[in-house]
Amino acid sequence: MKVLVLGHKGMLGTDLMADLGRTHDVAGKDIEDFDIASASGCRGEIGQSGADVVINAAAYTNVDGCETDEAGSLCVNADGVKNVALACRESGIKLVHFSTDYVFDGTKKGPYVEDDVCSPINAYGRSKLKGEEYLREISDNYLLVRTSWLYGKHGRNFVGAIVERAERTGKLEVVDDQTGSPTYTVDLAAAVRVLIEGGHRGVFHLTNRGVCTWYQFALKILEYRDMGNVSIAPIKSAQLGRSAPRPEYSVLSCRKFADTTHRTMRFWQIALEEYMAGMS
Ligand SMILES: NC(=O)c1ccc[n+]([C@@H]2O[C@H](COP(=O)([O-])OP(=O)(O)OC[C@H]3O[C@@H](n4cnc5c(N)ncnc54)[C@H](OP(=O)(O)O)[C@@H]3O)[C@@H](O)[C@H]2O)c1
Repeated sequence: MKVLVLGHKGMLGTDLMADLGRTHDVAGKDIEDFDIASASGCRGEIGQSGADVVINAAAYTNVDGCETDEAGSLCVNADGVKNVALACRESGIKLVHFSTDYVFDGTKKGPYVEDDVCSPINAYGRSKLKGEEYLREISDNYLLVRTSWLYGKHGRNFVGAIVERAERTGKLEVVDDQTGSPTYTVDLAAAVRVLIEGGHRGVFHLTNRGVCTWYQFALKILEYRDMGNVSIAPIKSAQLGRSAPRPEYSVLSCRKFADTTHRTMRFWQIALEEYMAGMS
C-alpha cells in the first residue's frame, strides 16, 4: 500500500512513519513542504502523491494556544481538514484523520462512545469538531480516529514535562480533577495500521486501556523514574489558570475497536513503563 503521512515530523506522525514503513511504501510531508491550510497546496501535493491512503496527523495541537488564536486553530484543524478531504476525494484516496477526546464536554458519567453527542468546551475542541464535520460532509472513504492524552518520543508531552520539572525543582503540583486515558503514540500507530490494513472505515476511539487523573499519571511517572523523593500535591484545574478549560471526564470507550478487530490496547501503565524504560 502506498501511504502519505501529513504532519510526519510530529509526535504521532513520526511513529506512524516508523510503524507503517515496515510493511508499506510510506512518504511524509510536513509544514515546510506545504501548509494544509492551502487548498492549492493540498490539491497539488496529494494529487501527485499516487497514494492509496493519506493519513492526516498534521494539526494545531497547542490547546491553550488555540484558545487565544481561535481563527488560527480553525484555519488548520477545520479548513486544513476540508482541503485535505477535498484533495483526497478528487484523487479517489482514502483519508485517515485524527480527532480528540476534547470534542466532548466531559459531563458524561461513563466512557464516551463514537456516536455520543459532541459539545466541546474549548477552542481546540471546537476546531477539531469542525474538522470532523468537514470530513464527514466531503468524504465517503474515511477513517476518523479519536484519541487522548498522547505522549511519545518525538514531541513535547506530559511525561517529559513532569520528569523535567521534578528533576529541576523536586516539587510538583498536578491537577486531580480531570480524568482520561494516557496513550502511547507507538501503540496508537500500531492500532491505526490494523484498522487501515483491515479496510475499516468510519469513526473509532483508540486509547490505551484504563483511566486516571493527571495527578495519578504523574505519580506513576515518578514511580517508574524512581523519584519517590519528589514532593507532589494534587490541585484543582482552576488553580492552574490556563486559558483553555478542559473536560473533567474525557474517557473514550474503545469497545468498537475491540469488537471490530478482536484486539485490545495495552493498559496505560504497561505502555508508560516501556516508554520510560527507553527515556534518557
Ligand atoms: N497530543 C495529544 O495529546 C493529542 C490528543 C488527542 C488527539 N490528538 C490529535 O492527534 C494528532 C497528532 O497529534 P500530535 O500530538 O502528534 O501533533 P504534533 O506533535 O503537534 O504534530 C503535528 C505536526 O503537524 C505539523 N503542522 C502543524 N500545522 C500544520 C499545517 N498547517 N500544515 C502542515 N503541517 C502542519 C506540525 O508542525 P510544527 O510542529 O512545525 O507546528 C507537526 O509536525 C492531531 O490531529 C491531534 O489533534 C493529539
